[in-house]
Amino acid sequence: MSAPTSERLAPGAPPPAGFTPLCVPELRGNEWKYVKECLDTNWVSSVGSYVDRFERSLAEAAGTRHAIATTSGTAALHVALMLAGVERDDEVLVSTLTFIAPANAIRYVGAWPVFVDAEPDYWQMDTAKAIDFLERGCEWRNGELRNRLTGRRVRALMPVHILGHPVDMQPLVEAARKFGLRIIEDATESLGATYHGTPVGHLGDMACFSFNGNKIITTGGGGMLVTDDEALAKRARYLTTQAKDDPVEYVHHEVGYNYRLTNVLAAMGVAQMEQLPSYVEAKRRIAATYTAALGTVPGFTPMRQASWARSTFWMYTVLVDPQTVGADARALLRALGAAQIQSRPLWQPLHQSEAHRGAFATDCSTAEFLHARALSLPCSVGLTPDAQSLVIEHLLHAASRAAA
Ligand SMILES: Cc1ncc(COP(=O)(O)O)c(C=O)c1O
Repeated sequence: MSAPTSERLAPGAPPPAGFTPLCVPELRGNEWKYVKECLDTNWVSSVGSYVDRFERSLAEAAGTRHAIATTSGTAALHVALMLAGVERDDEVLVSTLTFIAPANAIRYVGAWPVFVDAEPDYWQMDTAKAIDFLERGCEWRNGELRNRLTGRRVRALMPVHILGHPVDMQPLVEAARKFGLRIIEDATESLGATYHGTPVGHLGDMACFSFNGNKIITTGGGGMLVTDDEALAKRARYLTTQAKDDPVEYVHHEVGYNYRLTNVLAAMGVAQMEQLPSYVEAKRRIAATYTAALGTVPGFTPMRQASWARSTFWMYTVLVDPQTVGADARALLRALGAAQIQSRPLWQPLHQSEAHRGAFATDCSTAEFLHARALSLPCSVGLTPDAQSLVIEHLLHAASRAAA
Protein backbone atom coordinates (compact mmCIF):
# COMPACT_ATOMS: atom_id res chain seq x y z
CA MET A 1 0.00 0.00 0.00
CA SER A 2 1.46 3.36 -0.95
CA ALA A 3 1.84 5.94 1.80
CA PRO A 4 -0.92 8.58 1.96
CA THR A 5 -0.07 11.92 0.39
CA SER A 6 0.37 13.46 3.82
CA GLU A 7 3.45 11.38 4.56
CA ARG A 8 5.03 12.08 1.21
CA LEU A 9 4.44 15.82 0.89
CA ALA A 10 7.92 17.20 0.38
CA PRO A 11 8.96 19.96 2.79
CA GLY A 12 8.06 23.27 1.19
CA ALA A 13 5.67 21.79 -1.38
CA PRO A 14 2.35 23.61 -1.54
CA PRO A 15 -0.31 21.28 -0.12
CA PRO A 16 -3.20 20.02 -2.27
CA ALA A 17 -6.74 21.22 -1.49
CA GLY A 18 -8.35 19.60 1.53
CA PHE A 19 -5.00 18.73 3.05
CA THR A 20 -3.58 20.01 6.34
CA PRO A 21 0.19 20.36 6.05
CA LEU A 22 2.63 20.27 8.94
CA CYS A 23 4.17 23.71 8.53
CA VAL A 24 4.03 25.88 5.42
CA PRO A 25 4.98 29.50 4.70
CA GLU A 26 2.61 32.38 5.36
CA LEU A 27 2.98 35.08 2.69
CA ARG A 28 0.46 37.79 3.38
CA GLY A 29 2.45 41.01 3.73
CA ASN A 30 4.74 43.03 1.50
CA GLU A 31 6.50 40.05 -0.12
CA TRP A 32 5.09 40.68 -3.63
CA LYS A 33 5.69 44.41 -3.44
CA TYR A 34 9.33 44.16 -2.34
CA VAL A 35 10.23 41.31 -4.72
CA LYS A 36 8.56 43.17 -7.59
CA GLU A 37 10.61 46.23 -6.76
CA CYS A 38 13.81 44.15 -7.12
CA LEU A 39 12.66 42.82 -10.48
CA ASP A 40 11.48 46.22 -11.71
CA THR A 41 14.77 47.89 -10.78
CA ASN A 42 17.11 45.04 -11.80
CA TRP A 43 18.50 44.73 -8.25
CA VAL A 44 18.21 40.96 -8.29
CA SER A 45 21.66 39.71 -7.39
CA SER A 46 23.70 39.49 -4.21
CA VAL A 47 23.97 43.21 -3.51
CA GLY A 48 21.14 45.63 -2.87
CA SER A 49 19.27 47.53 -0.24
CA TYR A 50 17.11 44.56 0.76
CA VAL A 51 20.12 42.46 1.72
CA ASP A 52 21.25 45.31 3.97
CA ARG A 53 17.76 45.83 5.41
CA PHE A 54 17.30 42.12 6.02
CA GLU A 55 20.62 41.98 7.85
CA ARG A 56 19.69 44.98 9.99
CA SER A 57 16.34 43.47 10.91
CA LEU A 58 17.96 40.19 12.00
CA ALA A 59 20.63 41.99 14.01
CA GLU A 60 17.84 43.91 15.72
CA ALA A 61 15.79 40.78 16.42
CA ALA A 62 18.80 38.92 17.82
CA GLY A 63 20.13 41.98 19.63
CA THR A 64 23.54 41.65 17.96
CA ARG A 65 25.75 44.29 16.39
CA HIS A 66 26.26 42.42 13.13
CA ALA A 67 24.37 40.10 10.79
CA ILE A 68 25.60 38.50 7.56
CA ALA A 69 23.05 37.03 5.16
CA THR A 70 23.85 33.64 3.63
CA THR A 71 22.30 31.28 1.10
CA SER A 72 21.19 28.87 3.83
CA GLY A 73 21.37 28.15 7.53
CA THR A 74 23.78 25.33 6.78
CA ALA A 75 26.10 27.76 4.97
CA ALA A 76 25.98 30.07 8.00
CA LEU A 77 26.90 27.17 10.30
CA HIS A 78 29.75 26.15 8.00
CA VAL A 79 31.22 29.66 8.03
CA ALA A 80 30.68 30.04 11.80
CA LEU A 81 32.71 26.89 12.43
CA MET A 82 35.57 28.23 10.32
CA LEU A 83 35.40 31.55 12.17
CA ALA A 84 35.52 29.69 15.49
CA GLY A 85 38.84 28.20 14.45
CA VAL A 86 37.50 24.65 14.24
CA GLU A 87 39.97 22.59 12.24
CA ARG A 88 40.32 19.12 10.78
CA ASP A 89 40.06 16.42 13.48
CA ASP A 90 38.83 18.80 16.16
CA GLU A 91 35.65 17.94 18.04
CA VAL A 92 32.52 20.06 18.52
CA LEU A 93 29.78 19.25 21.03
CA VAL A 94 26.37 19.32 19.35
CA SER A 95 22.85 18.17 20.22
CA THR A 96 22.02 14.64 19.09
CA LEU A 97 18.30 15.42 18.84
CA THR A 98 18.23 17.83 15.93
CA PHE A 99 17.93 18.04 12.19
CA ILE A 100 21.23 16.80 10.74
CA ALA A 101 22.57 20.07 9.28
CA PRO A 102 24.74 21.23 12.23
CA ALA A 103 26.52 17.86 12.43
CA ASN A 104 27.07 17.90 8.67
CA ALA A 105 28.55 21.41 8.89
CA ILE A 106 31.00 20.13 11.50
CA ARG A 107 32.11 17.45 9.01
CA TYR A 108 32.44 20.09 6.23
CA VAL A 109 35.43 21.54 8.13
CA GLY A 110 36.84 18.04 8.72
CA ALA A 111 35.96 18.08 12.42
CA TRP A 112 33.91 15.55 14.39
CA PRO A 113 30.65 15.96 16.28
CA VAL A 114 30.41 14.83 19.90
CA PHE A 115 26.72 14.10 20.28
CA VAL A 116 25.11 15.26 23.51
CA ASP A 117 21.82 13.86 24.80
CA ALA A 118 18.57 15.82 25.19
CA GLU A 119 17.17 16.63 28.65
CA PRO A 120 13.71 15.23 29.45
CA ASP A 121 11.87 18.45 30.32
CA TYR A 122 12.22 20.71 27.29
CA TRP A 123 14.05 18.24 25.00
CA GLN A 124 17.01 20.56 24.46
CA MET A 125 20.73 19.75 24.73
CA ASP A 126 21.41 18.29 28.18
CA THR A 127 23.90 20.83 29.49
CA ALA A 128 24.73 18.67 32.55
CA LYS A 129 25.82 15.84 30.25
CA ALA A 130 27.79 18.23 28.06
CA ILE A 131 29.61 19.60 31.10
CA ASP A 132 30.17 16.13 32.52
CA PHE A 133 31.86 15.20 29.23
CA LEU A 134 34.08 18.28 29.42
CA GLU A 135 34.93 17.73 33.10
CA ARG A 136 35.43 13.98 33.13
CA GLY A 137 35.65 12.82 29.52
CA CYS A 138 38.36 15.34 28.59
CA GLU A 139 41.80 16.25 29.84
CA TRP A 140 44.30 19.04 29.28
CA ARG A 141 47.31 18.09 27.17
CA ASN A 142 49.90 20.74 26.31
CA GLY A 143 47.39 23.50 26.98
CA GLU A 144 44.68 21.92 24.81
CA LEU A 145 41.45 20.27 25.92
CA ARG A 146 41.32 16.76 24.46
CA ASN A 147 38.76 13.98 24.49
CA ARG A 148 40.38 11.28 26.66
CA LEU A 149 39.08 8.49 24.43
CA THR A 150 39.56 9.83 20.90
CA GLY A 151 42.52 12.07 21.73
CA ARG A 152 40.96 14.81 19.58
CA ARG A 153 41.05 18.49 20.54
CA VAL A 154 37.70 19.87 21.71
CA ARG A 155 37.18 23.29 20.19
CA ALA A 156 33.59 24.50 20.30
CA LEU A 157 30.03 24.01 21.55
CA MET A 158 27.10 24.02 19.16
CA PRO A 159 23.86 23.90 21.16
CA VAL A 160 20.79 23.67 18.92
CA HIS A 161 17.66 25.47 20.16
CA ILE A 162 15.18 22.95 18.76
CA LEU A 163 11.46 23.39 18.05
CA GLY A 164 11.37 27.05 19.04
CA HIS A 165 12.70 26.64 22.60
CA PRO A 166 16.11 27.76 23.90
CA VAL A 167 18.75 25.53 25.43
CA ASP A 168 19.56 26.34 29.07
CA MET A 169 22.60 28.36 28.05
CA GLN A 170 24.02 29.76 31.29
CA PRO A 171 25.86 26.57 32.37
CA LEU A 172 27.24 26.21 28.84
CA VAL A 173 28.45 29.80 28.77
CA GLU A 174 30.28 29.24 32.07
CA ALA A 175 31.80 25.98 30.82
CA ALA A 176 32.89 27.61 27.57
CA ARG A 177 34.64 30.33 29.57
CA LYS A 178 36.30 27.79 31.85
CA PHE A 179 37.51 25.54 29.03
CA GLY A 180 38.28 28.24 26.45
CA LEU A 181 35.67 27.06 23.94
CA ARG A 182 33.69 29.04 21.39
CA ILE A 183 29.88 28.82 21.38
CA ILE A 184 27.99 28.77 18.10
CA GLU A 185 24.25 28.74 18.64
CA ASP A 186 22.26 26.86 16.05
CA ALA A 187 19.23 29.12 16.41
CA THR A 188 17.77 28.12 13.05
CA GLU A 189 14.53 26.83 14.59
CA SER A 190 14.06 29.45 17.26
CA LEU A 191 14.08 32.96 15.83
CA GLY A 192 11.96 35.08 18.17
CA ALA A 193 12.49 32.98 21.30
CA THR A 194 14.15 34.38 24.43
CA TYR A 195 16.25 32.99 27.27
CA HIS A 196 15.95 34.90 30.58
CA GLY A 197 14.71 37.77 28.39
CA THR A 198 17.67 37.69 25.99
CA PRO A 199 16.95 36.76 22.37
CA VAL A 200 18.35 33.48 21.11
CA GLY A 201 21.17 34.42 18.80
CA HIS A 202 22.75 36.62 21.46
CA LEU A 203 23.81 33.92 23.89
CA GLY A 204 27.14 32.75 22.46
CA ASP A 205 29.96 34.04 20.24
CA MET A 206 27.97 33.58 17.04
CA ALA A 207 24.56 32.26 16.05
CA CYS A 208 22.95 31.02 12.86
CA PHE A 209 19.39 31.30 11.57
CA SER A 210 17.63 29.58 8.68
CA PHE A 211 14.84 30.84 6.43
CA ASN A 212 14.02 27.66 4.57
CA GLY A 213 10.42 26.85 3.74
CA ASN A 214 9.28 25.51 7.09
CA LYS A 215 10.90 28.09 9.38
CA ILE A 216 8.91 30.76 11.20
CA ILE A 217 9.88 33.26 8.54
CA THR A 218 11.08 32.15 5.13
CA THR A 219 12.91 33.42 2.07
CA GLY A 220 12.37 30.10 0.32
CA GLY A 221 15.97 29.34 1.23
CA GLY A 222 18.41 31.47 3.16
CA GLY A 223 20.34 31.93 6.37
CA MET A 224 22.01 34.47 8.63
CA LEU A 225 25.08 34.55 10.84
CA VAL A 226 24.89 37.02 13.72
CA THR A 227 27.56 38.16 16.16
CA ASP A 228 28.66 41.10 18.28
CA ASP A 229 32.28 40.61 17.24
CA GLU A 230 33.32 43.01 14.52
CA ALA A 231 36.35 41.01 13.41
CA LEU A 232 34.29 37.84 13.08
CA ALA A 233 31.61 39.72 11.16
CA LYS A 234 34.15 41.18 8.78
CA ARG A 235 35.66 37.79 8.11
CA ALA A 236 32.21 36.21 7.67
CA ARG A 237 31.42 38.81 5.03
CA TYR A 238 34.73 38.10 3.30
CA LEU A 239 34.37 34.29 3.29
CA THR A 240 30.73 34.31 2.16
CA THR A 241 31.52 36.51 -0.85
CA GLN A 242 34.29 34.43 -2.47
CA ALA A 243 37.10 35.96 -0.38
CA LYS A 244 37.67 38.79 -2.83
CA ASP A 245 40.75 40.84 -1.93
CA ASP A 246 40.63 42.99 -5.01
CA PRO A 247 37.17 43.17 -6.56
CA VAL A 248 38.50 44.83 -9.72
CA GLU A 249 41.49 42.61 -10.47
CA TYR A 250 39.85 39.53 -8.90
CA VAL A 251 42.67 38.74 -6.53
CA HIS A 252 41.96 36.19 -3.79
CA HIS A 253 44.25 35.30 -0.90
CA GLU A 254 42.05 32.48 0.37
CA VAL A 255 39.47 29.96 -0.76
CA GLY A 256 36.11 31.65 -0.28
CA TYR A 257 32.49 30.57 -0.66
CA ASN A 258 29.58 31.67 -2.79
CA TYR A 259 27.26 31.92 0.19
CA ARG A 260 25.71 35.38 -0.24
CA LEU A 261 21.91 35.69 -0.18
CA THR A 262 20.39 37.46 -3.18
CA ASN A 263 18.53 40.77 -2.97
CA VAL A 264 15.33 39.13 -4.30
CA LEU A 265 15.26 36.60 -1.48
CA ALA A 266 16.26 39.23 1.06
CA ALA A 267 13.30 41.34 -0.13
CA MET A 268 11.03 38.46 0.80
CA GLY A 269 12.88 38.22 4.12
CA VAL A 270 12.32 41.91 4.93
CA ALA A 271 8.59 41.49 4.33
CA GLN A 272 8.52 38.33 6.45
CA MET A 273 10.43 40.00 9.29
CA GLU A 274 7.75 42.72 9.42
CA GLN A 275 5.40 39.91 10.46
CA LEU A 276 7.64 38.10 12.96
CA PRO A 277 5.94 39.28 16.18
CA SER A 278 2.49 38.32 14.88
CA TYR A 279 3.81 34.97 13.64
CA VAL A 280 5.27 34.20 17.06
CA GLU A 281 1.92 35.07 18.62
CA ALA A 282 0.13 32.79 16.13
CA LYS A 283 2.47 29.89 16.93
CA ARG A 284 1.99 30.41 20.65
CA ARG A 285 -1.79 30.54 20.25
CA ILE A 286 -1.76 27.30 18.25
CA ALA A 287 0.41 25.70 20.93
CA ALA A 288 -1.89 26.84 23.74
CA THR A 289 -4.89 25.36 21.93
CA TYR A 290 -3.19 21.99 21.43
CA THR A 291 -1.96 21.92 25.01
CA ALA A 292 -5.43 22.74 26.37
CA ALA A 293 -6.92 19.91 24.30
CA LEU A 294 -4.25 17.25 24.78
CA GLY A 295 -2.62 18.12 28.10
CA THR A 296 -5.26 16.34 30.18
CA VAL A 297 -5.60 13.28 27.93
CA PRO A 298 -3.82 10.30 29.51
CA GLY A 299 -0.83 9.21 27.44
CA PHE A 300 -0.19 12.58 25.76
CA THR A 301 2.60 14.88 26.99
CA PRO A 302 2.68 18.24 25.21
CA MET A 303 5.90 20.19 24.75
CA ARG A 304 6.51 22.70 27.54
CA GLN A 305 8.09 26.05 28.09
CA ALA A 306 10.68 26.54 30.83
CA SER A 307 10.12 29.32 33.38
CA TRP A 308 13.28 30.99 32.04
CA ALA A 309 12.21 30.81 28.42
CA ARG A 310 9.79 32.31 25.97
CA SER A 311 9.30 29.67 23.31
CA THR A 312 7.97 30.33 19.83
CA PHE A 313 6.59 26.75 19.76
CA TRP A 314 7.85 26.74 16.17
CA MET A 315 7.07 23.05 15.66
CA TYR A 316 4.34 21.88 18.02
CA THR A 317 5.19 18.41 19.28
CA VAL A 318 3.58 15.98 21.68
CA LEU A 319 4.84 12.74 23.24
CA VAL A 320 2.67 9.65 22.89
CA ASP A 321 2.89 6.88 25.49
CA PRO A 322 1.97 3.75 23.52
CA GLN A 323 0.99 1.74 26.62
CA THR A 324 -1.55 4.31 27.79
CA VAL A 325 -2.83 5.44 24.39
CA GLY A 326 -2.89 1.96 22.85
CA ALA A 327 -1.13 3.22 19.73
CA ASP A 328 2.32 4.65 19.21
CA ALA A 329 3.30 7.93 17.54
CA ARG A 330 3.84 6.25 14.15
CA ALA A 331 0.38 4.62 14.23
CA LEU A 332 -1.19 8.00 15.00
CA LEU A 333 0.85 9.54 12.19
CA ARG A 334 -0.65 7.00 9.78
CA ALA A 335 -4.18 7.56 11.12
CA LEU A 336 -3.82 11.32 10.65
CA GLY A 337 -2.34 10.72 7.21
CA ALA A 338 -5.42 8.77 6.19
CA ALA A 339 -7.42 11.90 7.09
CA GLN A 340 -5.14 14.06 4.91
CA ILE A 341 -3.41 15.56 7.92
CA GLN A 342 0.36 15.70 7.93
CA SER A 343 2.31 14.98 11.10
CA ARG A 344 5.91 13.94 11.64
CA PRO A 345 8.17 12.17 14.11
CA LEU A 346 11.25 13.98 15.38
CA TRP A 347 14.58 13.30 13.64
CA GLN A 348 16.54 10.12 14.13
CA PRO A 349 19.00 11.05 16.90
CA LEU A 350 22.30 11.73 15.18
CA HIS A 351 24.39 9.36 17.31
CA GLN A 352 22.33 6.63 15.58
CA SER A 353 22.78 8.07 12.09
CA GLU A 354 24.81 6.13 9.54
CA ALA A 355 25.94 9.48 8.17
CA HIS A 356 27.81 10.13 11.41
CA ARG A 357 28.98 6.69 12.40
CA GLY A 358 32.25 6.81 14.26
CA ALA A 359 31.42 10.06 16.09
CA PHE A 360 31.69 10.15 19.89
CA ALA A 361 28.51 10.50 21.98
CA THR A 362 27.43 10.86 25.60
CA ASP A 363 24.74 8.52 26.88
CA CYS A 364 21.82 9.51 24.64
CA SER A 365 18.98 7.46 26.10
CA THR A 366 16.64 10.45 26.57
CA ALA A 367 16.93 11.41 22.91
CA GLU A 368 16.10 7.82 21.95
CA PHE A 369 13.06 7.86 24.24
CA LEU A 370 11.86 11.17 22.78
CA HIS A 371 12.44 9.93 19.23
CA ALA A 372 10.26 6.88 19.87
CA ARG A 373 7.37 8.95 21.26
CA ALA A 374 7.34 12.35 19.60
CA LEU A 375 4.80 13.46 17.06
CA SER A 376 4.84 16.95 15.53
CA LEU A 377 1.41 18.30 14.58
CA PRO A 378 0.25 20.84 11.98
CA CYS A 379 1.25 24.28 13.19
CA SER A 380 1.57 26.62 10.21
CA VAL A 381 1.13 30.27 11.13
CA GLY A 382 -1.95 30.27 8.90
CA LEU A 383 -3.58 27.20 10.50
CA THR A 384 -7.21 28.18 11.10
CA PRO A 385 -9.02 27.37 14.37
CA ASP A 386 -11.36 25.09 12.39
CA ALA A 387 -8.50 23.20 10.78
CA GLN A 388 -6.79 22.83 14.15
CA SER A 389 -10.01 21.53 15.74
CA LEU A 390 -10.18 18.90 13.01
CA VAL A 391 -6.59 17.81 13.70
CA ILE A 392 -7.37 17.47 17.41
CA GLU A 393 -10.61 15.61 16.67
CA HIS A 394 -8.88 13.12 14.35
CA LEU A 395 -6.01 12.62 16.77
CA LEU A 396 -8.29 11.95 19.75
CA HIS A 397 -10.52 9.75 17.62
CA ALA A 398 -7.52 7.69 16.47
CA ALA A 399 -6.36 7.40 20.08
CA SER A 400 -9.78 6.35 21.40
CA ARG A 401 -10.16 3.75 18.61
CA ALA A 402 -6.75 2.36 19.52
CA ALA A 403 -7.74 2.19 23.18
CA ALA A 404 -11.08 0.44 22.44
C1 LIG B 1 18.46 22.70 13.60
C2 LIG B 1 18.72 23.08 12.17
N1 LIG B 1 19.97 23.44 11.83
C3 LIG B 1 20.26 23.83 10.57
C4 LIG B 1 19.29 23.85 9.59
C5 LIG B 1 19.72 24.18 8.22
O1 LIG B 1 19.11 25.27 7.66
P1 LIG B 1 19.00 25.39 6.07
O2 LIG B 1 17.95 24.43 5.62
O3 LIG B 1 18.64 26.80 5.85
O4 LIG B 1 20.34 25.05 5.50
C6 LIG B 1 17.98 23.50 9.93
C7 LIG B 1 16.86 23.53 8.96
O5 LIG B 1 16.84 23.04 7.91
C8 LIG B 1 17.69 23.08 11.24
O6 LIG B 1 16.44 22.71 11.59
